[in-house]
Amino acid sequence: MKTLSLTPQTKVLVLTGAGVSAESGVPTFRGMDGLWEGHRVEEVASPEGFAADPQLVWRFYSLRREGALEVNPNPGHVALAKLEERLGDRYLLATQNVDGLHARAGSRRMLAIHGELFQSRCEKCAVPFADQKTYFDTLPKCETCGGAVRPHIVWFGEMLNPRHLEQVGEFIQAGGSDLHFFAIGTSGLVYPAAGFVQIARSVGAMTWLIDAAPSREFASQFDEVIVGKSGEVLPFLLGERSER
Ligand code: APR
Repeated sequence: MKTLSLTPQTKVLVLTGAGVSAESGVPTFRGMDGLWEGHRVEEVASPEGFAADPQLVWRFYSLRREGALEVNPNPGHVALAKLEERLGDRYLLATQNVDGLHARAGSRRMLAIHGELFQSRCEKCAVPFADQKTYFDTLPKCETCGGAVRPHIVWFGEMLNPRHLEQVGEFIQAGGSDLHFFAIGTSGLVYPAAGFVQIARSVGAMTWLIDAAPSREFASQFDEVIVGKSGEVLPFLLGERSER
């Protein structure tokens, strides 16, 4: 298997998806056939779903909070945190995962582009705050204005934080042909994250896909495709070589 050679100029942008947390025991959305307790995931992960049945949505996210607290980062998360230690500001992680496992493994230069499971926000005040609580019966209300409190998650049909996209774009532009772009454990079905590879290619970056079962269509967009579990591939791929 190939290993990543680092030079003093190398910059690394990593995009992670649900597959990176699979070995920790967090189920991938599409691995559940898009269904949760018989509900389509869009029903419990959309503004329309929250407006129609906030109790159901909070039950879904309360169970996910409970589940995420029971699992731990795996060697894939740890290998990425170690790579960040070596590269400093020449490293950026954009994760689609909301489970907090990258941060628990030590990642800091990280954008949680789909939101954070352990944050909530008032629909009106819109300021996110740390929240590990579960809400199965009583729904949370904003202490300031009494408005409905929702999970701080980017739901289907919602925009990503424009600042996050700007930061990714600036990092890619600055990296140019010194950039290595890694997509890891993501099916490449959800935009705009699925489009990062094309932006990276347009500046001459080297592009890598690491996935246990990549689709042919997504894989065809990358220079290197490594088929395997991220917890097994990443420690080897990222740990073998040191900076020259
Ligand atoms: N190692 C590497 N890849 C894996 C592993 C593993 N151990 N297990 C599964 N995979 C791969 C699958 O082959 C698949 O390509 O991870 C990918 C998971 O794909 P999805 O479930 O579609 O997850 P993701 O791409 O993160 O979804 C994007 O869509 O569901 C919404 O907002 C949610 O952030 C999510 C977004």
